[in-house]
Amino acid sequence: MNGKKLYIRSFGCQMNKLDSGLVTRAFTFAGCELVDDEGDADIIIFNTCSVREKAEQKVLSRIGYAGHLKKDRPDIVVAVIGCMAQRLGDKLLENPAVDIVCGPGRIPTLPQQVRQVMQQHGHLVSVEDDIRKIPEAQAQQMLDEFEYINDSDEGQIRGQAFIRVMRGCNNFCSYCIVPFVRGPEVSRPPAQIIEQARKLAGTGVRQLTLLGQTVNSYFYDDGGRKWRLSDILEAVSQISGIERIRFITSYPHLDYDEPLFHAMADIDEVCPYLHMPAQSGSDRVLKAMNRKYTVGQYLETLDKARDIVSGITIASDFIVGFPGESEDDFEKTVNLVQKARYKNIFAFKYSPRPGTKTETRMADDVPEEIKKIRVNKLLKIQEDISRQDNAALVGTRMKVLVEGPSKKAHLNNADHQKYPQLISRSAGDHIVVFNGPEILSGKFARVEIKKASALTLFGEYSEGS
Ligand code: 5AD
Ligand code: SF4
Repeated sequence: MNGKKLYIRSFGCQMNKLDSGLVTRAFTFAGCELVDDEGDADIIIFNTCSVREKAEQKVLSRIGYAGHLKKDRPDIVVAVIGCMAQRLGDKLLENPAVDIVCGPGRIPTLPQQVRQVMQQHGHLVSVEDDIRKIPEAQAQQMLDEFEYINDSDEGQIRGQAFIRVMRGCNNFCSYCIVPFVRGPEVSRPPAQIIEQARKLAGTGVRQLTLLGQTVNSYFYDDGGRKWRLSDILEAVSQISGIERIRFITSYPHLDYDEPLFHAMADIDEVCPYLHMPAQSGSDRVLKAMNRKYTVGQYLETLDKARDIVSGITIASDFIVGFPGESEDDFEKTVNLVQKARYKNIFAFKYSPRPGTKTETRMADDVPEEIKKIRVNKLLKIQEDISRQDNAALVGTRMKVLVEGPSKKAHLNNADHQKYPQLISRSAGDHIVVFNGPEILSGKFARVEIKKASALTLFGEYSEGS
């Protein structure tokens, strides 16, 4: 594929971003050149998300545009990969623009598939027939190797990289498509994760984010030695060069989160940041969602996390307008957001996903207008909390990891003409903007917080620190 131009667009979560990075690397190894515009591409890859209908619609509209480009240039190869590929399979071929459909479990063979379609034309569909079957050892090994060979911090943020520690999900929350498109939970062998972390550290990576749909469920029995996420954190923290470790996303497990919180408290490199979605503040709704905790138990878990890990920041996801969610249920969610005092939240309007328990058994009976009002109300409440909590950070000093120059000018830009504005993150995942030398990208800096808004902290760079 020497000299072929590749355009890749990723939709959805960090898992997809990671996969897109791996695919990009595999294609550039094969001689492709990355382009930013579909119009310049010979190969167009859409890495898709199925979690809400809107995400799928966005992809369909991009496929439509690719079809338009193919009218003039029928040789362009269009591949749809990721969750939509697994969910819809050969149905996606009904769209004449699509040449290749490739599920998340088959991405190691994607370069080969594209080569084949370029040479012989025609279509290819490669998805799991039975997505809930644990993949054969050979298939798992292929995915692991693909991951090991193609991982890097390139194309992402300098000095930072992601490592998948587990695939799939076994929770079957009643609204969620993930278990049907990403398959059963499979934890990767510790030795592989550690080796990959070592390799990345050797290339200059300073911060690793360990990824899993329910990352705190990580479990691997290595010939009798039982590994949990806390053991992985401990092992990765010993690798020289790794200064920060994050992990996302956590499912509230009352029984075994405590050792994890202790690991967070005891290991300096582990960031005091927990993304633990609650989804709702009503026990009735949580039950209908098949979430396996009550609001009381969830809050107890947060209390425990705060007791054990000093300075911990917590983030959450919420779904509003779940079938049957009454005004009273929603008020309970508001209550939870007020009590939990998150650093930030993500709030989504319920979207029925085909084949999930909720979609097949419950009517999507909360009107769109009400969903919108509830989402906005929840975000507004959180915004006030974030603004207050961020204001309390003014005057403190923070060690931040610099991501790079800011694309837009922020509030305090005019104060400092000498340096460009840089975007960085604190250990607790606060976004910190400050003016500093661009060479700090991918490195740590010390800043003093001077101003704060709900979303951003504005710092002053202490030179020489
Ligand atoms: N509708 C709306 N939001 C959803 N999520 C998952 N499934 C749905 C759905 N059907 C949200 C959850 C999850 C986040 C990644 O997406 O809040 O934590
Ligand atoms: Fe979906 Fe629930 Fe699994 Fe999260 S834990 S991926 S919401 S099924």
